Amino acid sequence: MDCIANKTLLNATCGPDDDAIAVINPATDTVIGYIPSLQTSDIHDVIEKSKVAQKLWAARPAAERAKLLTRWYELVIENSDDLARIMTLEQGKPLTEAKGEIIYGASFIQWFSEEAKRTYGDTIPAPTDNKRLMTIKQPVGVAAAITPWNFPTAMITRKAAPALAAGCSFITKPANQTPLSAYAITELAYQAGIPQDLLVMVNNHSSVAVGDIFCSHPDIRKLSFTGSTQVGSQLIKQCADSVKRTSMELGGNAPFIVFDDADIDEAVKGAIASKFRNAGQTCVCANRFYVQDSVYDQFVDKFVDAVAALKVGNGIEPGVQIGPLVDSKAKENVLGYITQAKEQGATVAYGGEDLGGLFVQPTILTDITQDMDIVQTEIFGPVAPIIRFSEDDELITKANDTIYGLASYFYTRTLNRAFHIAEQLEFGMVGINEGIISNEVAPFGGVKQSGFGREGAKQGIDEYMSIKYLCFGGL
Ligand code: SIN
Repeated sequence: MDCIANKTLLNATCGPDDDAIAVINPATDTVIGYIPSLQTSDIHDVIEKSKVAQKLWAARPAAERAKLLTRWYELVIENSDDLARIMTLEQGKPLTEAKGEIIYGASFIQWFSEEAKRTYGDTIPAPTDNKRLMTIKQPVGVAAAITPWNFPTAMITRKAAPALAAGCSFITKPANQTPLSAYAITELAYQAGIPQDLLVMVNNHSSVAVGDIFCSHPDIRKLSFTGSTQVGSQLIKQCADSVKRTSMELGGNAPFIVFDDADIDEAVKGAIASKFRNAGQTCVCANRFYVQDSVYDQFVDKFVDAVAALKVGNGIEPGVQIGPLVDSKAKENVLGYITQAKEQGATVAYGGEDLGGLFVQPTILTDITQDMDIVQTEIFGPVAPIIRFSEDDELITKANDTIYGLASYFYTRTLNRAFHIAEQLEFGMVGINEGIISNEVAPFGGVKQSGFGREGAKQGIDEYMSIKYLCFGGL
């Protein structure tokens, strides 16, 4: 088999002398490859070529674009073992999770290959009898994205696939920590027949420099960003000068609520999946737990047992469930949040230890109160703070007491409660008796300072299209 893992690592390697960006395995602290740091003039060149390629691409029938996207999807699936290995080596997540992300990432390519054929406009009843009105949808043009290190494949395909399906070209700056996954799937897109100037990855030692070009270049008509609220807000300001369309998938502070009528075993399963996926480094991770009085002790005991059973280690080794954090800054932050919570009165119910390297023991903190800093902080690590509550109304106020509004979760077996709570939570996504809510058919996105725009689902392609209104007169 044509081994994408080896090919990518070799192709991407340009050697430390060439102003290259080193890619480091967070589990072993060793360099696994290098990628080129492009000059500013190279990035401008990429945008020029991308503009030409976009016009040709948009002129092709949707069915042709769909066919190439389908082939790309098939190649990603065929190479999923190699792609997963690359991801684990550069990002740290366990191999089974990496494989899951490749399948998840591929699902967006498949979904939008289908949606390419369904970008319908409307016919509109005219207000006068001598006119006929209709709308068509057209691609916005050259689209760009800045994508994060926590999902090095899926956060690219979730944006690139709808952009290409819509008829846009697509330029991405993948995170400098995890570019090999990005280069590998791009190589597969080229093998599928997607033109090289249409889908391009660009990196520079300075992410800010690339962001400045993306935001200021007049030919880039759309910027999609997944990352922190702080950076997202800065990018929105920068894009204002050239009035670009933007989609922002920003920070989260997901409450995970366990009501007194919940199935506690299911709630524990959901809590493990939601909190410890990718070692807690996801925007939709459960970030703070609210557990009702009468089931509090039962939930905490079972949760501690489940967390104690998690295997921490190098994700490439069989059976490992929690990998390293991405870098030393991430680890310092997470350990700092634990220390600060303890100083403010929290009890460590399990974990809390620095395990050396970039590994942090999965941790459960109890005696947490709403006023503690950790409740308002996006932890981005394997730490679960638990707050006790008694009344539903008090709970809703606390759950909504955050600047963020991305994901939220709750467990109950009462239908009435399920509807009321779901409607009152000020979040873009709600998991009800479910800890994993992301998939290609559902609209992913937030409210408040978690951003705007939706990815995946039937809405995802509209982020890359403009509506044009046609008025036929003199009829
Ligand atoms: C993210 O954390 O940014 C994405 C997580 C997901 O797609 O489930």
